[in-house]
Amino acid sequence: DLMMAMIGSAVGLGNIWRFPNVLYSHGGGSFMIPYIVSLFLLGISFVLVEYAVGFKFKRSLARILFAVSKKLEPVAWFILLIVFLIATYYVCVVGWDLIYIVLSLTKAWGANPDLFFANNVLQATDSISGIFKIVPMVFASVFAIWFMAWFIIKRDLNDGIGNVSKVLLPVLCLIVVGIVAFSLTLPGASIGYTQIFTPDWSALTNLDVWLAAFGQIIFSLSLGMAIAMTYASYLPEGSKLVDNAVIVAFSNSGFEVFNSIGTFSILGFMALTTGMPFNELVTEGTGLAFVVFPQVFNTMGDVAYIIGPLFFICILFAGITSLIALLEGVCYSISEKFLIERKKTATAVCIVGFLISIIFTTAVGSTILGVFDAYLNNFALLFAILLECIIFGWIYKFDDLIEILNNNSSIKVGKTWKTVIKYILPICIAGLWIQGVMSTISTIDTLSSTIMLILTIVLIVVPIIFAKLPARNPHYYD
Ligand code: TRP
Repeated sequence: DLMMAMIGSAVGLGNIWRFPNVLYSHGGGSFMIPYIVSLFLLGISFVLVEYAVGFKFKRSLARILFAVSKKLEPVAWFILLIVFLIATYYVCVVGWDLIYIVLSLTKAWGANPDLFFANNVLQATDSISGIFKIVPMVFASVFAIWFMAWFIIKRDLNDGIGNVSKVLLPVLCLIVVGIVAFSLTLPGASIGYTQIFTPDWSALTNLDVWLAAFGQIIFSLSLGMAIAMTYASYLPEGSKLVDNAVIVAFSNSGFEVFNSIGTFSILGFMALTTGMPFNELVTEGTGLAFVVFPQVFNTMGDVAYIIGPLFFICILFAGITSLIALLEGVCYSISEKFLIERKKTATAVCIVGFLISIIFTTAVGSTILGVFDAYLNNFALLFAILLECIIFGWIYKFDDLIEILNNNSSIKVGKTWKTVIKYILPICIAGLWIQGVMSTISTIDTLSSTIMLILTIVLIVVPIIFAKLPARNPHYYD
């Protein structure tokens, strides 16, 4: 049951919306090798750290960090702030999905879903002045999603929603299997899917692709955000921790790679029918999924009037459960330290979150969303993971973790894993991080650099304030 819950929390927009888009913008085949390497080097190795730590301490990240050292409190708030900021744009993607549920009832996107998404849904512009223009439909759907999230948390409906999405997740998988099978029969499909499986060895030296691969693994497996830690703290004694982690990581990546075979086949079909070059098929990168799936529904005929809405509804539920999971950790930590009633905390968090989300509903919203997404995953969370590797690999007694993991598992970890966490992973992350910062600084435009600068300041100042504010809970530091 818990394993299903873990897979459920990993499978979400990351697999259906983010992965195909990252894959597409990094050239398909060039991306796959870095991706697979990151799955092992970062994904599985680091999930194991989170499992072991969560299983051992059985409490929230903040208090786990105190147990190691009191000075680490800002690190915990830093991570929670990233989680919160991810939620602010995650809402927007769920909002787009909500719009597509309605559109799919009549296939209102017409014959050219790409133009429709850019011009009618996002009403995107390139000029910075677009930041002053709010797009009413996106605004309304973002508001609706925040409202739902708030309502679910406030009314304690999490379990109910969780149960609904447990039913819908297999439905989503079935639909995806159907769509992939159908896509493979489209003319031109092979133009697309061969892209994924044709490795481009020269791209291996392009560190930006590696950074993107690390970022995708982080997002898709919800790494570094203490999610796996929370789940592991509920696992009963005698659980096969390593086996569990490996299964969750493989199912999650297997699902997204499988799904992208369909996505790329459809892109191949689009390339063949429109005669456009492969890399110019989709204008708004952040919206790849909202272009490609409507396209396949267009070619499916009448069954699409059933499959289309069902598909977007499944994504809606997967998105909302992920959103609740993101927000819960934030609310829990705030109410634990300041003894504010959980419902009041939820209301405050949702209001602040909604206010931030408004920037994604402007005419340059999807561009800003892309910047948030890349910055928070490829830089901020990657940095947090580096810190966690150092904290648990070097400050904490690491051999204890090995023992905890190996106790009941049939797959054992040992020296290799220890070397990865203590040396290889931190060195790789540090290298990629520095190179990523340099290459970003040298290529960045004004809008992106302003956003990144603001995010950087917020990510430094706010965690320090939250850590400095005195705890109202007398047992907080026990
Ligand atoms: N992994 C989720 C997905 O693929 C997204 C996600 C990131 C998430 N962090 C999370 C979900 C924290 C729940 C909790 O969509």
